[in-house]
Amino acid sequence: MVALDLKEYLKEKKKLVDKFLDNYLPKADVHPKVLHEAIRYSLFAGGKRIRPILCIASCEAVGGDIDAALPAASAIELIHTYSLIHDDLPAMDNDDYRRGRLTNHKMYGEAIAILAGDALLTMAFDMFSDKELNSRLDSDSLLSIIKIIASASGSTGMVGGQAADIQASGEEVNLPEVEYIHIHKTGALIRASVCTGAIAGDASDDELSALTRYGECIGLAFQIADDILDIEGSRDEIGKDVGSDIAKEKVTFPSLIGVSESKKRAKELVEKAISSISVFDEKVEPLREIARYIVERKN
Ligand code: IPE
Ligand code: IPE
Ligand code: MG
Ligand code: MG
Ligand code: MG
Repeated sequence: MVALDLKEYLKEKKKLVDKFLDNYLPKADVHPKVLHEAIRYSLFAGGKRIRPILCIASCEAVGGDIDAALPAASAIELIHTYSLIHDDLPAMDNDDYRRGRLTNHKMYGEAIAILAGDALLTMAFDMFSDKELNSRLDSDSLLSIIKIIASASGSTGMVGGQAADIQASGEEVNLPEVEYIHIHKTGALIRASVCTGAIAGDASDDELSALTRYGECIGLAFQIADDILDIEGSRDEIGKDVGSDIAKEKVTFPSLIGVSESKKRAKELVEKAISSISVFDEKVEPLREIARYIVERKN
């Protein structure tokens, strides 16, 4: 078997997602122009597309066809991009750079940035519920996918984690609370990406629970790695300002247990993720490699 070239795999899948999104989204000259321009500005700024790629890889891991997962995978990226635009707002993290560019509100003003986020979130559900677009999925699978993503995005998922993150800033918080924050603000959507890919690929119950465990572990590891990059990364590589967490007195894994212990935790989670999918055949190789990449990445 030829070893997987992860860089090539990520590039190829990102291209598929970008093309799908570009076709689906209103063009930048559609009225109200500024809104559609703002949406495209953030969406096509060069994100890694790791959530849609995970969704696609998970679908492939259970023997499914990429086309079945692509619409849902792309819709997840819309939700993720909305979460980034809102995360950067002055009322939240107040950041100036994202994906190597000025943040959405710095370019278009707060009102349009809020509305661009609102529109992206709504557009995702428009996409999920489009029967023709999702013709490869039966209604039950599609409904499960919509439910999983909605729960992972709302007050019991990403938005809940973001609220807890804001509340914790500048406060004394213990490790279980930081875990809660990370599992919800970031882990939930990553876990959901893996689960929905598995459902799109018609996974068995056993496969779905193994992949769910995998998704949980890499989801938490992903945010720990993000915390570490905020300290050790370079602005050119991460495309956002370094040191933002310390400046805003964010409660992070490194702020609580230090950088080297955080790295150890992230690595342990990756090992756990990989061992949860040990029974799968070679089709799971991209997921194994992505798990390693999540803690080794430089951006
Ligand atoms: C950044 O996510 C925000 C977090 C949830 C940690 P990514 O690191 O996936 O950002 P992009 O999509 O590649 O820009
Ligand atoms: C954000 O966590 C998680 C989201 C849901 C967007 P961070 O606030 O640490 O993400 P970055 O570092 O700004 O990308
Ligand atoms: Mg934040
Ligand atoms: Mg932030
Ligand atoms: Mg961060």
